[in-house]
Amino acid sequence: MKLLDILKFSEEYLKKYSFSKPRLESEKIISYVLKLERITLYAYFDMILSLEQKEKIKDYLKVMARNRCTFDELPKDKKSMIEEKDYSIQNKELLKKSIEYLLKNDVGDSKLDAEYIFAHVLKVRRTILSLSLKREITSKEKEEIKKLLHKRAKEKKPLQYLLGEWEFYGLPFKVDERVLIPRADTEILVEQCKFILTELQNPKVLDIGTGSGAISVTIAKEVPSSIVLGADISADALEVAVQNRKLNNVENNLKFIKSDVFSNIKDNDYDMIISNPPYIPKEEYEGLMPEVKLHEPLGALTDNGDGYYFYKKISEEAPKHLKDNGYLAFEVGYNQAEKVSGFMKKSGFQIVGIIKDYSGIDRVVIGRKNGEESVDKVS
Ligand SMILES: C[S@@+](CC[C@H](N)C(=O)[O-])C[C@H]1O[C@@H](n2cnc3c(N)ncnc32)[C@H](O)[C@@H]1O
Repeated sequence: MKLLDILKFSEEYLKKYSFSKPRLESEKIISYVLKLERITLYAYFDMILSLEQKEKIKDYLKVMARNRCTFDELPKDKKSMIEEKDYSIQNKELLKKSIEYLLKNDVGDSKLDAEYIFAHVLKVRRTILSLSLKREITSKEKEEIKKLLHKRAKEKKPLQYLLGEWEFYGLPFKVDERVLIPRADTEILVEQCKFILTELQNPKVLDIGTGSGAISVTIAKEVPSSIVLGADISADALEVAVQNRKLNNVENNLKFIKSDVFSNIKDNDYDMIISNPPYIPKEEYEGLMPEVKLHEPLGALTDNGDGYYFYKKISEEAPKHLKDNGYLAFEVGYNQAEKVSGFMKKSGFQIVGIIKDYSGIDRVVIGRKNGEESVDKVS
């Protein structure tokens, strides 16, 4: 729509409401919105107005008609209300284009990822993003959104690393490329361990391969009477774990140690040893999706062998570090529960639970040292 057209439209509109000088009033509105001198308007009759300018002019017309006042008589608060424009239309369009861009670049959950990126840059929760789309997105914010979308689409960087924080068991965790992104499956392991630990008095817990500290921090938080030690071979990962300990305020009952499996673990009175070790076999590692293979730490994913190295080693050495009747709890890969149970039994553990994940796959194996045999298969 050209300036001349909107001028005619406004004039007609105000005439309908019996304004005595509809042309003059229309010129005043338009020159104000376009920030032009009224007497120069005729020189811009062919100018195409933006959607935003047209909307603003219409808003002024409506308010003047409703309040039966001229443009000069409009109260200040009404003017500022119109000036604080609603940018929803443009912003929703930008969000839609971003979703399409991710989709075109094979990002599976393109809508969710785009919404998370917008919410992150606009510093709001994703669930209330639509409310925040009313305000103007500054050019700096648009640049930041563009940068993150590019990293997600072209570099295949996982959303969680782009955001720098992710939720595990309802708690916030800092995550970056030094640590594995905590998975929902691991929440099942934590949940099962929590059931057992809450029955014990001041249980002493060791988490081998703590990574971001997801398991250690959550146990320390959920079972405040516990005393937890998180061990990892990666000094880089431990730096992140320390950050997460502080973030979740569990510095009193959680410590971290650098250790190659049990190499630096001295105590022999743990009530429970938990581990979600690197369990992807070397040959399966090659076929992982780019998000995982290109960005998550190799040493957190695979043992560079058949996927059983850590289960075997931890099962063999755990009895030395556990009290009698102490527990060993593992997260296992999709087809590993049976073989892992075998290692545990061979080292004197009674299997007390094999727990399935949400897809019905055996995901957690729990054994008790010198315990009585009773295998619970839980879905
Ligand atoms: C699958 S990740 C688990 C991370 C975290 N516990 C979780 O569940 O999200 C495995 C972790 O084991 C650590 N790791 C690998 N080799 C190890 C070793 N020899 N001794 C101790 N930790 C090791 C890795 O650095 C990584 O942090």
